[in-house]
Amino acid sequence: MRVWAVPRTLRVALLLLLLTSSNVRAPPPTEAGEEDVGSSGRGRHRRRAFPGPHFHPTSPTNITTQLGAHAYLPCRIKNLGNKSVSWIRNRDSHILTVDRYTFIADERFTAWHEAPTQTWTLQVRYVQERDAGSYECQVSTEPKMSHFVQLSVITPSVTIAGESDLYVKSGSTVNIKCVISNALEEPTYIFWYHGDRRVVSANSDRILSVNRIPPDTSIGKLTIPSVSLADSGNYTCAPASLEMASVMLHVLSGEHPAAMQRGTTSTATTTASSAPRGFADDTTVAALMTFLLWLA
Ligand SMILES: *[C@@H]1O[C@H](CO)[C@@H](O)[C@H](O)[C@H]1NC(C)=O
Ligand SMILES: *[C@@H]1O[C@H](CO)[C@@H](O)[C@H](O)[C@H]1NC(C)=O
Ligand SMILES: *[C@@H]1O[C@H](CO)[C@@H](O)[C@H](O)[C@H]1NC(C)=O
Repeated sequence: MRVWAVPRTLRVALLLLLLTSSNVRAPPPTEAGEEDVGSSGRGRHRRRAFPGPHFHPTSPTNITTQLGAHAYLPCRIKNLGNKSVSWIRNRDSHILTVDRYTFIADERFTAWHEAPTQTWTLQVRYVQERDAGSYECQVSTEPKMSHFVQLSVITPSVTIAGESDLYVKSGSTVNIKCVISNALEEPTYIFWYHGDRRVVSANSDRILSVNRIPPDTSIGKLTIPSVSLADSGNYTCAPASLEMASVMLHVLSGEHPAAMQRGTTSTATTTASSAPRGFADDTTVAALMTFLLWLA
């Protein structure tokens, strides 16, 4: 845990420094003057007041992140000098970070400095809905300077297209579509489960695909080319970091329930020989053959 990695005394010292920085620090360098460009007398004329820390006008004030993703809240400060930068959560005034130390027992919060861009960034990993709100980037000047960043958290919705119960005939092709809408980014993966077993395409005839429909929708599709009674049950779509959605698949054995039931319970040879008698059309036979191949 990052917060405990910092010795307690150092943490206390830092906190005290932050809270009393105006008293312990040297007077603001406004009068000190800097930027001695030349070394001769001419340099004296070029000498001008050090402007002190200030926020860069382009530092963003609104950040939008998707639930479960990482949020990056930048705070661009010019001429920071040796001042401290703290990130404070407005909701409860909790000090999250002081410079690069984390002061909250939540490892999701970290801050770091990027010298070339003069940016102190607060990172919030695996953003949750309750992280939405205002965050304050505070510089330990006297008086203190604050820059506020509003974090918005977008929650994508995950649904299975159609009814919550799906009725299909044995042997037909089934497509189950998982619709993820209001999503800033495509989920890094979508897992499918049949009951509590993960559905995989390797060594099976299952086809898994994902399509992105701009601007904010992703559709994960599970295809079962020739469905059998054993495929009945609860199918769950579980996109990375998001909620799950389920559908109940009911496979109907069609006009020949007895024959089909025998097909699923008896051995392959018996079923193969009885199939032509039990089923009238070639499609069904083909479907059954596919199923038998799948069983094998
Ligand atoms: C930030 O969001 C607020 C409210 O959501 C809005 O009023 C404001 O205009 C936004 N500012 C920018 C710079 O987008
Ligand atoms: C910060 O910088 C000022 C002038 O640049 C210096 O006088 C002061 O000692 C420094 N403070 C710390 C804590 O390093
Ligand atoms: C289906 O499975 C999901 C995930 O395990 C579960 O949350 C849901 O309640 C199940 N649905 C039914 C109807 O059993």
